[in-house]
Amino acid sequence: MKNAALVVLLALSLWCCRKSDPSQTTIDKLYAEKYRPRFHFTPKEKWMNDPNGMVYHQGEYHLFYQYHPESLVWGPMHWGHAVSTDLVHWTHLPIALYPDSLGMIFSGSAVVDKNNTTGFGTPDNPPLVAIFTYHNAAREKEGKNDFQTQGIAYSLDKGRTWTKYERNPVIVNPGTRDFRDPKVFWHEVSKKWVMILVAGDHAELYGSADLKTWAKLSEFGKEFGAHGGVWECPDLFPLTVEGESTQKWVMIININPGAPNGGSGTQYFLGDFDGITFTCDSKKSKTAWIDYGPDDYAGITWSNAPGDRKIFIGWMSNWAYAQDVPTDPWRSACTVPRELTLVRVNDSLHVRSLVSPEIQYLIEESKEHEQFTVNDSLDLTAGIGFPINTSVFEGSVEEKDFTIEFLNDLGQRIVIGYESVGNRYFIDRKGSGRTDFSKTFAGEIFAPRIGTGDIKFTVVLDVPSVEVFFDDGLSVMTSLFFPDEVFQQVKIRTRSGTLAVDHLTVGKVSSIW
Ligand code: FRU
Repeated sequence: MKNAALVVLLALSLWCCRKSDPSQTTIDKLYAEKYRPRFHFTPKEKWMNDPNGMVYHQGEYHLFYQYHPESLVWGPMHWGHAVSTDLVHWTHLPIALYPDSLGMIFSGSAVVDKNNTTGFGTPDNPPLVAIFTYHNAAREKEGKNDFQTQGIAYSLDKGRTWTKYERNPVIVNPGTRDFRDPKVFWHEVSKKWVMILVAGDHAELYGSADLKTWAKLSEFGKEFGAHGGVWECPDLFPLTVEGESTQKWVMIININPGAPNGGSGTQYFLGDFDGITFTCDSKKSKTAWIDYGPDDYAGITWSNAPGDRKIFIGWMSNWAYAQDVPTDPWRSACTVPRELTLVRVNDSLHVRSLVSPEIQYLIEESKEHEQFTVNDSLDLTAGIGFPINTSVFEGSVEEKDFTIEFLNDLGQRIVIGYESVGNRYFIDRKGSGRTDFSKTFAGEIFAPRIGTGDIKFTVVLDVPSVEVFFDDGLSVMTSLFFPDEVFQQVKIRTRSGTLAVDHLTVGKVSSIW
């Protein structure tokens, strides 16, 4: 019964989604390209980087994004815009924010100003307020350091049209070259807005009563975490430890370069926030990563999500090669939406990421295999019986060396696995097809194992991407790949002789467009 209801829901939303776009012919033409993901968000065409301004408002999840509408590479930044009622089917909307005399529109966030603190709306129609960085390329060219400032804009019609505040910028540049990516939230205890932004090698916190006038509260991070590159796209929010009443604040700091597998990555810190200062719990040198793979960057969480969920989405690429990947007429997708929670494992706290349950709506068919043994290697392709290039694999195996390989008839493959020496997970995309567009693309990608015992995994495969969540999301890796033909085969191998598989469920995911 539940399944029947889900199928009706899915059919309805697919129908709505197709209806909402202007011309099916245009979509078919734009989307008929071999690397276009089927269930991840992509812009219809042209260049996208960071997700921006994610906010839930009046039944809609808004997703804005760094967008260059004229080209397949980065350029003057706009905020592209899409909305969804279910986090999986997206309706593209017109560009929300255009560059103006103060600069391009760099990354930032959006909030529902429920109490109309800005006065931009009315108590009955509170405004949506976007908070973003202005990047003034002319001043940068003149050799000045103060070319990044913070601005705001508001909407009174569910984000369909935006008015920039006439007294922008709301925070001028203090002489700091990298000064950007404001993420704002309402801090109930101190009854004020708090902004976290990044300033090169540290984060800065600001407070405001009305989103227009800001005062600096504190700084964090010069001596904490990874510093192999510039800090970018921060976030700060509380989470309660699963099964406990302990609350901790999670600070997300994206960094480029300096990630564990090269290029761009997302680190996080746990600590306390008293309305002014963030106090970090961990040692200065400790670095924890939201995703160890190379292709999850600039991720932050939705504001105002129902049920207090912390829903995270990232840009599924890496500045090391994002502008060279072989896709056309679009460049870059977002990761699947992910739920962040806080869990205690062997006395230490970790952020766990899991695929948002909404992705389940898209599973149209599934195959379950219970308790079997792999002797050296097992080809699962025939037993699955449907194409696996858009699928979710969920399984549990005994704690031994093993790999899952996805491959095509040309022998191109992506290999995902666990190795007991080093107690770590890996993805090997060396032989995955086209890798020649960048010197740094091919190679093995490692993540430490944080869990213990049987190995549980969820593998999300969508044409050119794989997102792997090991041990219920304690170690996560996201990776792109570009085979010449789609992967149709799947094999499990072990070099330990035998591997006991408790279960393996494969779901076929339907397209969102
Ligand atoms: C991160 C980033 C941000 C900046 C934006 C510009 O990928 O560099 O720091 O605001 O992209 O597009």
